[in-house]
Amino acid sequence: MIFANWEDAREGARRRLPKIFFDFIDGAAFSESTARANLEDFEKWVFEQRVLVDVADRQLSTHYLGADRPLPMILGPVGFAGFFAPNAEIKAARAAHAAGIPFCLSNFGIVAMEKLRDATQGPLWFQLYVLKDRELSDKLLKRAEAIQAEALVITVDSQVKSVREKDTRNGFRTLTKVTPGLAMRLMRKPRWVAGALTAGPIRINNLAEYPQYGSSALEQAVKLGHLIDASMTWRDIAAFRDRWKGKLIIKGILNAQDAAECAKIGVDALVVSNHGGRQLDGARSSISVLPEVVSEVGDKLDVLFDGGIRRGGHIVKALALGAKGVLLGRSYAYAVAADGERGVSQLLELMRVEMDVALGHIGVSNFQELYERRDRVLRLRD
Ligand SMILES: Cc1cc2nc3c(=O)[nH]c(=O)nc-3n(C[C@H](O)[C@H](O)[C@H](O)COP(=O)(O)O)c2cc1C
Repeated sequence: MIFANWEDAREGARRRLPKIFFDFIDGAAFSESTARANLEDFEKWVFEQRVLVDVADRQLSTHYLGADRPLPMILGPVGFAGFFAPNAEIKAARAAHAAGIPFCLSNFGIVAMEKLRDATQGPLWFQLYVLKDRELSDKLLKRAEAIQAEALVITVDSQVKSVREKDTRNGFRTLTKVTPGLAMRLMRKPRWVAGALTAGPIRINNLAEYPQYGSSALEQAVKLGHLIDASMTWRDIAAFRDRWKGKLIIKGILNAQDAAECAKIGVDALVVSNHGGRQLDGARSSISVLPEVVSEVGDKLDVLFDGGIRRGGHIVKALALGAKGVLLGRSYAYAVAADGERGVSQLLELMRVEMDVALGHIGVSNFQELYERRDRVLRLRD
């Protein structure tokens, strides 16, 4: 399947996936206003076109977590991705590594981290939801160390379970097994069913030794949401900082005060993120928050960004506003659902071209220059 842009990938996913799983990717919390704002607010920033500047030698590399990176993209944590395609995480990670970018496995990913490590060589990050069962969290960290995860990402915006109304309607997070009604709905997408049957039972394999938390991904989706520890505080993050010797990233920061706490604790990076509008409906868009976070802590740690990244132009805007890299969420989830590894590779290449075109037209050759000249190349729309 050939995509001209991310919307083609979304349409491919819509055609391929049973509605319950497409809506799980596409949906957001309550009225979905923050998810919409994430996309719309990119339009508030406009590029200044500059002509007749020598931009023959353009570079899209960036630098964060102490290393040079060929592209400013990371495949962010997406839970339950095994529903989107058989071995979806392996396919996405291979595409990421072929492009030279990291892949972050969700705590609620389907593939076991050791199997993922065996399947691909590039940088892997592991994302943790801190559960009430801290022993379980600790065991996961030991395994993440053993597979030499480059970074631990602790997501902090999900301690309180939110509601996605599309999931409510479809029964995702209430159905614990395939009922006759769900089976009928799944059968409307026979290609998906055929793939799922060959891939075997879908469950969160990192939690395979914990049948008390569910034995299928559907059941785990219902049970695990309730196990996230709502009593967690900055003190716990400080303890994780002491415990984890690798790079530590906090995901889900939406204001300068919380960013300052991250800096105080000495984390290596934070992700400005509202979880794609899937948690607090009515929260500010990610891009509107980015400048204040960069101004507070941009000289102390690496600021990463996600929320609404669908185009290379969005990435250029985020880097002009001070992000060192961006995490992709839905865009690659659609692509892997639509066309597996090839789909993700295509999407990454589209984003690369879109970034390159944007940089060239604003008369900038690399991201360093972009940031230095940000006031001249990016303006708020009048
Ligand atoms: C289907 C889906 C599942 C997700 N699962 C997780 C997860 O397990 N852990 C996490 O930290 N973020 C998760 N996220 C949030 C993404 O990592 C990211 O913050 C968000 O998708 C970015 O917004 P975007 O989709 O508009 O690009 C998920 C997002 C989606 C769409």
